[in-house]
Amino acid sequence: EQLTLGSGRVGLRNIGNTCFLNAVVQCLSHTRGLRNYCLVKSYKHEKFSKEEAKLMDAFSQVLSGLWDVNEGDTVVNPRHFYNVFKEAVPYFSGFSQQDAQEFLRFLLDKLHTEINLCFKKKKIFETLVIFIISEEAAAMWKKHLERDDSIIVDLFSGQLRSSLHCSVCSHYSNTFDVFCDLSLPIPKRSSGGEVTLRECLDLFSQEEKLDKENSPMCERCNRRTECTKQLSIQRFPQVIVIHLNRFTTSRWSISKSTVYVSFPLTNLDLGPYGPADCAVLYNLYAICNHAGTVNMGHYTACCLDENSWCFYNDSSVTPLTENQLQTNQAYVLFYQRSNSTTTIRK
Ligand SMILES: *[C@@H]1O[C@H](CO)[C@@H](O)[C@H](O)[C@H]1NC(C)=O
Ligand SMILES: [Zn+2]
Repeated sequence: EQLTLGSGRVGLRNIGNTCFLNAVVQCLSHTRGLRNYCLVKSYKHEKFSKEEAKLMDAFSQVLSGLWDVNEGDTVVNPRHFYNVFKEAVPYFSGFSQQDAQEFLRFLLDKLHTEINLCFKKKKIFETLVIFIISEEAAAMWKKHLERDDSIIVDLFSGQLRSSLHCSVCSHYSNTFDVFCDLSLPIPKRSSGGEVTLRECLDLFSQEEKLDKENSPMCERCNRRTECTKQLSIQRFPQVIVIHLNRFTTSRWSISKSTVYVSFPLTNLDLGPYGPADCAVLYNLYAICNHAGTVNMGHYTACCLDENSWCFYNDSSVTPLTENQLQTNQAYVLFYQRSNSTTTIRK
């Protein structure tokens, strides 16, 4: 099916504290694989066990409005989509300011559930005696695909590896988890100066010492021991969503970090956080920003279309230059894996 698209430079009406939704929808609307899938209504041709894909329909309807060739309406009203979403996730029914990252997670999860091709949940085989890391990771991934198969998985799913190293017996063990976004800590700076995305990634993948109380059982010692834990990316997704964790929950309150985190627009190399010594390159195509404080915040998005960047502030859409993209409000970054083949780094 041939797609005829408008410019995509169409805003979304704010229907009462819904800037979080508008910003996330604009970022997803610029995720090509997902946009095209929704616009040609590919999910209609596939057989699912469930009744109808209500949320998928409502979401696709919003995207159709945003990419309409006629652009008769320069603003799309997301009310129907939001109502269907709130029905699926009652947690979002309140009137308070919602977190964009949380919304994104729920939205992708619900969309996936509606269009998951693996409705017959296959029995998970329990006994896995595999000693090579990559084989174990591959087996875990296979299990994931046996249960979960949709455009959401194709685009956003990656695999995270968590390695534990016992300090008593030196035993290594690995666990593998599926991720749909990478939530990165922001390093503290006494000077208050800027940090780079690389420093956030380094902190995320840094070896962490766990004391006895906080460590899991060592398989070999058969008790809790002091150990170290390290996270790495085992499998890279097509689209990597990077969440800069600006909000810290302490005992009494939530605080927000407004540290300036710089990030590359092209050729972000995540290879160093992966299993092999090769470059894995990503290009930025959307940013979800958060301005203001925890309770009085405002979400906006910057998205890349065919030619250039635009700023999406609810119903208003304005062009942006590349040097206006980097601000201390960047909150969720959307990177697409570049088509260039991975090259061995030496
Ligand atoms: C976004 O739009 C609102 C009005 O709808 C305006 O008050 C605000 O300044 C705009 N934000 C930016 C960063 O342009
Ligand atoms: Zn041990």
